[in-house]
Amino acid sequence: MPLQYRAAVLRQSGTPLSIEQVTAGDPAPTDVVVRVRAAGLCHTDLEVIDGSLRYPLPMILGHEAAGVVERVGAEAGNVSVGDHVILSWNPHCGHCFQCDRGQPILCDTYLGEGPRGLHFDGRSKANFADGSALQHLMFLGAFAEYCVLPAQQAIVVPTEIPFDRACLIGCGVMTGVGAALNIADIAHGDTVMVIGCGAVGLAALQGAVMAGAGAVIAVDLDDAKLSLATKLGATHTVNARSQDPVEFARSVTSGRGVDVVLEAAGHPSAFRQSTEAVRVGGEVIWLGKIDVANDVSFRWGSLMGEKRLRRSSYGGARPLRDFPYLARAYLDGRLQLDELITARMKLEDINRGFDDLRAGRSIRTVIEF
Ligand SMILES: NC(=O)c1ccc[n+]([C@@H]2O[C@H](COP(=O)([O-])OP(=O)(O)OC[C@H]3O[C@@H](n4cnc5c(N)ncnc54)[C@H](O)[C@@H]3O)[C@@H](O)[C@H]2O)c1
Ligand SMILES: [Zn+2]
Ligand SMILES: [Zn+2]
Repeated sequence: MPLQYRAAVLRQSGTPLSIEQVTAGDPAPTDVVVRVRAAGLCHTDLEVIDGSLRYPLPMILGHEAAGVVERVGAEAGNVSVGDHVILSWNPHCGHCFQCDRGQPILCDTYLGEGPRGLHFDGRSKANFADGSALQHLMFLGAFAEYCVLPAQQAIVVPTEIPFDRACLIGCGVMTGVGAALNIADIAHGDTVMVIGCGAVGLAALQGAVMAGAGAVIAVDLDDAKLSLATKLGATHTVNARSQDPVEFARSVTSGRGVDVVLEAAGHPSAFRQSTEAVRVGGEVIWLGKIDVANDVSFRWGSLMGEKRLRRSSYGGARPLRDFPYLARAYLDGRLQLDELITARMKLEDINRGFDDLRAGRSIRTVIEF
């Protein structure tokens, strides 16, 4: 009897998700079946719903999740039934041009199959009742009671970390902390500015602290998010509605500008401020995104002076190494995750969760199954 489960499906952009009964496709021998226990609502899901990030539809959204392994294919390694896992959205082949050069986020197969909304083996893993196939967001489709996925995407973590917190590591926390620890070159005592204090930015801020930053300036448009940023280690806060982040950056660095900017707002003004606020010779990491068809303009002089500008995905994630590390950092009290959860909801309420994210009312809403 094929596995049947409920999933949140996007049939058309600009419309709410519908909760539908779907049937799992036949798992490959290298696949595992994970019973999803918690999934976070990331801004990237919202971009697909609102249409600025375009994928073939209908699609099961959700790419930040944790759960329990229920079935393991005959050729699936590294995981066992009952393991607690965080799902990774960067499967990679390990032997293509980009994998060989140490950039699994650019794996040829990953970049080939991702835009088609299929899994890493080029197949869909879920069908409607009439047998027609569904697409999956970012090789997962985790707003669902179950996920069928290649074993390499199910990363075993300690059972002590609760699922609602573990799921956050799967995207927002990995991206933010990873940007600070794996991508940026933050030296002890550096002054770091984080623009945008959603889950990604608040994780980046904590990563900057972990990397030994001397001062961390948090920038957002919302005072509540800025007070949370202070609680999580920001030494200064700037509300960009009432204060210019660039002037502030210069005022605390003798006019030089900050050493590193981690951008996690996904807005053209934040991209521009990041290049203006960083010192010559400094480094900017862009994590946010806007519609890929849109332009962003910069004052040319703001790009000069040996500045290093990099747009990065998934914080240089090496999930097998990083997910257990981040889970352990949470359990040891070095990484705060409780504070990132604004609300917990049932799958049926998922559209309300996205309304909150769109209105800036939430950091992370977590769907609990
Ligand atoms: N690079 C990656 O791999 C990756 C992964 C996940 C999310 N993202 C992107 O990162 C960004 C943040 O994601 P999130 O889930 O934390 O989103 P979010 O909506 O929860 O957070 C964005 C924050 O930026 C603030 N903001 C918006 N415009 C701003 C501005 N002009 N100046 C200062 N602050 C501003 C908002 O108030 C909000 O607090 C999004 O663009 C998302 O698409 C990238
Ligand atoms: Zn995400
Ligand atoms: Zn590859």
